[in-house]
Amino acid sequence: MRLFRSFRLDSANQCLWRGEHRVPLTPKAFDVLRYLVEHSGRLVTQDELLEALWPETYVNPELIKKYILGIRKVLGDQHDKPVYIETLPKRGYQFIAPVTDHVTEDPQDPSYDVISNMVGRSGPVSELQAAFKKALRGQRQIIFVAGEPGIGKTTLVDSFHQRASHEAKVRTARGQCVEGFGGKEPYYPMLDALGQLTRNPDSGAVVQTLARRAPTWLIQFPSLVKPEQREALHREILGATRERMVREICEALESLSSEAPILLVFEDLHWVDPSTLDLISALARRREEAKLMLVCTYRPVDMILSNSPLKGLKQDLQLHNLCVEIALERLPEPAIAEYLATEFPKASLPPGLANLIYRHSEGNPLFMAAIVQDMMKNGSIVHDDEEWRLTRPLETIDPGVPQSLQQMLEVQFERLNAPEQRVLEAGSVEGEHFSAWAIANALAEKIDHIEDLCDELAARQQVIKAIGIQELPNGLVAAHYEFRHSLYRQAIYKRLSSGRRARLHRAIAERLKTLSGPGRRDVASKIAFHFESGHEYEQAARYLLLAAENAAGRLAYRDCIQVLQHALKLTSKIEAYLGAELETQVLEFIGDAHYALGAMAESAAAYEAAASRAGQAGLKGAQVSALSSMVRPFGLIDPDRGIAAIGRAVEVTRSMQDPLLLARMEMLAAGCRLLYDSWREQDAVVCQSAHNQLKELGDKGTPPFHKMIYAHVQALQGNYIEALELFERGIPTLNQATSLMEHFFALSGKTIALLRMGRLGYVLQIVRDGREMAEKNGNDPWLFNFREAWLRMLTLDFEGSARVCEAILQTETAYPVSQPQTIARIARGYTAIAKGFTELDKGQNDRAIELFNQVRDPQTTPKFFLHWNWRMTAQLGVSEAWLQSGNLEKASFEADGFLHAALETADPHLQALAWEMQTRIAIANEDWGRAEDCVHKGLEIVDRFEVPVAGWQVHATAWRLYQSRQQYAEAESHRERAQADIFKIADSFPKGEPLRESFLSAAPIARIFSPSAERRRAADG
Ligand SMILES: Nc1ncnc2c1ncn2[C@@H]1O[C@H](COP(=O)(O)OP(=O)(O)OP(=O)(O)O)[C@@H](O)[C@H]1O
Ligand SMILES: [Mg+2]
Repeated sequence: MRLFRSFRLDSANQCLWRGEHRVPLTPKAFDVLRYLVEHSGRLVTQDELLEALWPETYVNPELIKKYILGIRKVLGDQHDKPVYIETLPKRGYQFIAPVTDHVTEDPQDPSYDVISNMVGRSGPVSELQAAFKKALRGQRQIIFVAGEPGIGKTTLVDSFHQRASHEAKVRTARGQCVEGFGGKEPYYPMLDALGQLTRNPDSGAVVQTLARRAPTWLIQFPSLVKPEQREALHREILGATRERMVREICEALESLSSEAPILLVFEDLHWVDPSTLDLISALARRREEAKLMLVCTYRPVDMILSNSPLKGLKQDLQLHNLCVEIALERLPEPAIAEYLATEFPKASLPPGLANLIYRHSEGNPLFMAAIVQDMMKNGSIVHDDEEWRLTRPLETIDPGVPQSLQQMLEVQFERLNAPEQRVLEAGSVEGEHFSAWAIANALAEKIDHIEDLCDELAARQQVIKAIGIQELPNGLVAAHYEFRHSLYRQAIYKRLSSGRRARLHRAIAERLKTLSGPGRRDVASKIAFHFESGHEYEQAARYLLLAAENAAGRLAYRDCIQVLQHALKLTSKIEAYLGAELETQVLEFIGDAHYALGAMAESAAAYEAAASRAGQAGLKGAQVSALSSMVRPFGLIDPDRGIAAIGRAVEVTRSMQDPLLLARMEMLAAGCRLLYDSWREQDAVVCQSAHNQLKELGDKGTPPFHKMIYAHVQALQGNYIEALELFERGIPTLNQATSLMEHFFALSGKTIALLRMGRLGYVLQIVRDGREMAEKNGNDPWLFNFREAWLRMLTLDFEGSARVCEAILQTETAYPVSQPQTIARIARGYTAIAKGFTELDKGQNDRAIELFNQVRDPQTTPKFFLHWNWRMTAQLGVSEAWLQSGNLEKASFEADGFLHAALETADPHLQALAWEMQTRIAIANEDWGRAEDCVHKGLEIVDRFEVPVAGWQVHATAWRLYQSRQQYAEAESHRERAQADIFKIADSFPKGEPLRESFLSAAPIARIFSPSAERRRAADG
């Protein structure tokens, strides 16, 4: 803490204090001031300042001049007689006020108690201090300070904040909620506060903690991430959810608070966004020790009027004793007398003055302060002969005092001259904070003129205060101002006619528009707000789309949907064609956001609405896009509707003369039919030729989902290497609304290829990593559980497979359950077959057949992704069960059915298994010619493709066949090859992996092992 005159520069918390008031300064202006203060008493050249504060960018030296000017205004320095900053022409600047260092933690130290004119708040102050003590002991504290406008919430919290800042080690930061657009910006106050923490002198520790504990937050501050780290960071947070983001910031704050206690202040929570409420809720409920205190202010009436969920949250926290509420009351008359005594230390004021002010203000401090200020301005109170006195009798003052605060503020405003009024009106339209730059345009006046006028008002302490110069993203600099109180802004804004209001909003929006660019999405919601208030609905909707993207970037999909829904309302006010175009865009985005949340039915409905709206308006491109999006959610909940939608997309595309789009749609449509409906040769051909055509056309823009569909088709045709490459490339590198599902889809495809290739250990690794990732991100690991069940089936761990599926079915999941239901039935079916084999229990076979038939029955098991693969597996199972029970006729019937279906597909794994079953039935029928014929067909496939799971089974059957035929050498060679395939599968697991062991000791495998193989196994183990 550095002291100069009545100011204190608080570097640790990035703020300047005068008395107990924070003097608002923009971050860069603060840095300039700090540099000068830290090097006070000597010349600081322009070059030195540039080097120190803008090390990596070129900055026009004129900028420094502007900053110095701004700081001087804030300090109240006079141009001709400076007492703080002296300009040494052509050389630089020197801080000339005496500076002292000040460190104290001793509350007894008289300088600890800064001169304060806050009265009547001893109760709340001691409540805050008691809470702070608890926080310092590691008991987190959440405090709500409630009260009507102007009751003194900010004053109380400022004074407490300022006291806490005295404790050298405490980190403090504030976050402001903003009326209008702020509620649409997720985590607005937290990001605000975090921004301050990352600019503190010890920001290194903060940034490191964010990198370690909260990458989803670090990425919100692109300037803190080195370009070479960016991609890794994006990968790290892929698939992250709101839950993860909330958890991460809690952990980061807790970790930081173990180094130094943290005091966070969130102001004006009645305008809060829902994401910040989630965060507060989580912060309050966590039980970990944390030296953390969060103080939130809010106005109860505004909270109720805006129907804010803050109310519910607060009640719930109160119910569970997780927060403390301090309700500020109006000031009693003695407090007002005390206020007069501190404001006018040496005075001979009549005792009735306090009563007069009390009667008019009814104890509202803002009103009280305004009355006093007004009396000084109009000369009712003057300072002469070293004392304050009234110039008129009380009775004559009394009737002139306005009846309400609103009237008071209006009276003050009316006393200003016309140009001042015009500037303040424009400022009130921009908001609580406004910049000379933005309103200059609205008023068609020069910035300099506006700045002079505002500085003059600020110097007279009227209505606004200067908050320093700010550099705008477009390189310009301009002075910024703040209303002394939000009620001043509201009072001025209310006076404007609606026409003028709208014009000013529009002009400000147009001006702000020049600030928005690719890296500047954060102004989008502000621009949207001004356009909407200016009745420019088309532009407003467009900027809301950008704001929604912004929310999606913060993983706040629910907020994103709210923003979009608001945009949707605006589209109805836009001229037909443009309105329809925007409406479809918004609806499609809503579909994406629901999709990211796993709400598939809502997602599909939004896409469907987008498609139909686009269809009505004849917007073919948008229609095709929405129709093809439908297949994503419908793929999970109702594949037939997805297939129908994509079929319609192809139809529409045919009328568009766009060969590239047509090829894309045909590839997608054929691919979807293959994966979600049934395998048809003709669709495989269409899919392939469309893909080739896309290549020829040099296509670069095919969406990842389309490519993943194609890659799945490749995998199912045995082109595993090509498929794996496509899946690898399909893993998204940027986190967007659809990234989570794209990522899942790519991993899903990858595991299918690997399962077919027998690389089961690799699949297990993906399953485990995926589950860990899902847990970290807070999303449902459904896909990884499905894959584990499938994997266990291939290692012949049917019990384990069924257990995994049944566990999925017992937990509540938003994802469709056909797949785990199916796998569970098949796994239980095979368990029954195995029991039937060992226990010679005929009832088991019947049970198995019943389970398999449930899978095959479309009534019991509706369609799902690759359902046909599982229905075929079930048919193979039925055939197996009949074969085991000795009913060769039925076994043969089902096996033929399976062979027929397998030959319709292009899947080498299924085809090899089909020939293997044919061989066994032929053996049972002692039809040796047929058996050899079939086994050759199977062998031919397993030789050509890398399919060891089918491979070991075909070779094992060949071994048995040749043994029966007494061709022992031939038989032995197949047994060896069966073993080789088995080891290929087993060795894909790491040593000691239980699944490897259980696979090798499963009965069908054990039967294949000769003593030699047993020896190898023992040596391996
Ligand atoms: N306890 C107090 N003693 C003296 N003056 C006070 C006190 N509380 C508030 N004031 C005066 O009232 C003005 C308004 O108070 P403040 O801004 O703290 O209100 P608020 O409750 O934060 O209002 P809002 O809900 O609008 O944010 C202050 O600028 C100050 O001049
Ligand atoms: Mg306030």
